[in-house]
This record gives sequence, structure tokens and C-alpha cells, in this order.
Amino acid sequence: MTTGRFPIHRPRRNRRDEFTRRLVAENRLSVDDLIWPVFVIEGRDQETEVSAMPGVRRVSIDRLARHVEPAMELGIPALALFPVTPVDIRDERGSESGNPENLICRAARLLKQEFPALGLIGDVALDPYTSHGHDGLLENGYVVNDASVEALVTQALNQARAGIDILAPSDMMDGRVGAMRTALDAEGFVDTRLMSYAAKYASAFYGPFRDALGSGGLLKGDKKTYQMDPANSDEALREVELDLLEGADMVMVKPGMPYLDIIRRVRERFSVPTFAYQVSGEYSMIMAAVRNGWLDHRGAMMESLLGFKRAGADGILTYFAIEAARALRS
Ligand code: PBG
Repeated sequence: MTTGRFPIHRPRRNRRDEFTRRLVAENRLSVDDLIWPVFVIEGRDQETEVSAMPGVRRVSIDRLARHVEPAMELGIPALALFPVTPVDIRDERGSESGNPENLICRAARLLKQEFPALGLIGDVALDPYTSHGHDGLLENGYVVNDASVEALVTQALNQARAGIDILAPSDMMDGRVGAMRTALDAEGFVDTRLMSYAAKYASAFYGPFRDALGSGGLLKGDKKTYQMDPANSDEALREVELDLLEGADMVMVKPGMPYLDIIRRVRERFSVPTFAYQVSGEYSMIMAAVRNGWLDHRGAMMESLLGFKRAGADGILTYFAIEAARALRS
């Protein structure tokens, strides 16, 4: 609309200066929104870079406390721990997941002792422990549901006993959230939280993570019989609803950037704590472009994270957590 030569409305006025831009900003990223995924390996004095994830390292458990210290200093609320199980102890049934002395349990006890205030999230799924790389148990080439849930409950209890605060089932078996809640309560772990990977898609963007864990080469087939079809959106709402009815305290959508519409729908429909996982492949894409000089590191990183907030996420699991927290501080 104009009067004579001049528009009445000038949205650019509020963009004119830094101070008004700050005043009218609708969304803000804070360190409180960040969860840092950390890969831990066996051995001593080991640090190996994940080749497809420049800047991301797997660190041996003796170096874990030092590796994690910056997260404490920067005020990052929680870590998501991912153990890289030595390949020679992986088996058909993922038995190592129930061992109270396994890598994630030792890591959890150590970190709880060193940094009691740091939240610990434990991924619950069988893929770091199975010789076939699937998140559940295989029978005649098919990942069976109910027997997998039993194994996952055993794994969940094992992690809770080691001090994991938030269990994050990432397996997509039906009924696992309810089964875990019941088993946790029966053992007195009434305050152990469940953050379910409620809408987890069968995505191509997990590739670098599977390399980080060493499960990619082992994987027989794909995960399409349990992870969701990227074509679906209403189905994500049903998955979230079921997990909430079964007792999930927080829900997650994964991957992140290609699924911002799902985050928005989940947040609007359920108004519960909703998290986004900016997965390995998303990190790799940005970093590949950064390494080529095609994208600005800080700009692309912060914009990608703010996008999750704008879509309605309460928090983000991101391999950028440390760098983003530093950028927010400066
Ligand atoms: C395991 C699990 C995966 C990721 C988190 N937990 C991989 C998969 O489902 O194959 C992916 C994380 C990432 O790509 O950063 N169930």
C-alpha cells in the first residue's frame, strides 16, 4: 500500500539497526538448548577422527573426562554417550549391551563421579553391539519386535544402574517405551527420564555415524522395516502419541533439517518437550562445504541450529554443540 510515492508499511525499519533487530528477534538459540553427542572407545591415549565428520573424534575412556570438560565449562546441559564396542565382542544378540561393565556403563560411572551435574543421555538400541548392525534381534533375516524389546529393556536397566539420567531408545520397536517405563519403575528408577526417538526415519543421513560406530560395514540390508518412511508425516504424530501414552517424558524427531515440518507438527499438536537430532550426515554436509570454502562455518552452523528453534524444537542434539556454545558466548 502506498500514499503517493511512499509505502505506509516499511518492515525494513525494524531491520535498520542492530538494536532493533535484537529487540524484535522472535527466536534465540541458547546454550541451554544444546546436547552434545560423544563417541567413546576402549584403550588408552586414543583419539581417532571420524573421517566423514571433520572435527569429530572418538576418544578413549581414560581421556573422556578431559574431552568433556569444555562442555561443563560452557554450560552445556547434557551429553549423549555413544560407545564404540570392539567388533570382536559384538554378537548376533548384542549380549554386551547387558554387561554392567560395558563401555557405556564405565563411561557413565566415571562421568557421574567427575561431573555430577552434567546430564547423561544413553542411546538404547542394539546396533553398537550386534554383529549384523541392526537395532534389534534378527530371526530369519527379519528384525523381530517383542524379543528385541526384552533385550532393550535389559539394556535400559543396565544403563540406569550405571547412572544414565535419560534413556533414549533409538530402535523404533513397538511398545519399547512402555516396557522400559514399567521395568524402570519396578526397580525404583522412577526419576530416570525417557527421551524417545519417537519419529525416527530410515534416513541416508546416518551414514557417517555408522562409520563412527563401525556398524555401517556390518549392516545387513537396511532399517526400513522399523524406521519410518521419509514419505510420511501423519504417521509421525501417531508414533509420538503412542510414546507419550507409554510414558515418554520427551520426544525426538530425527533427522533434523529435512524434517523441520515434523518438528513443527509435533510441537503444535502435543506441546511436550520436543528435540531435534541434527544427525551426522547433516553435520558432514555443512563441514564438507566449509572445508571447501563454500560456506561460512559459523554462519551456516548457527543458522542451521536456529532453524530448529524456529520450527519449535526445545533442544537440539548436535555435533556442533561445543563450537556453537563458544560462538554464543563470544
Ligand atoms: C542407533 C542410532 C543411529 C543414530 C543414533 N542412534 C543410527 C541408526 O539408526 O542407524 C544416528 C545418529 C547420527 O547419524 O548422527 N540406533
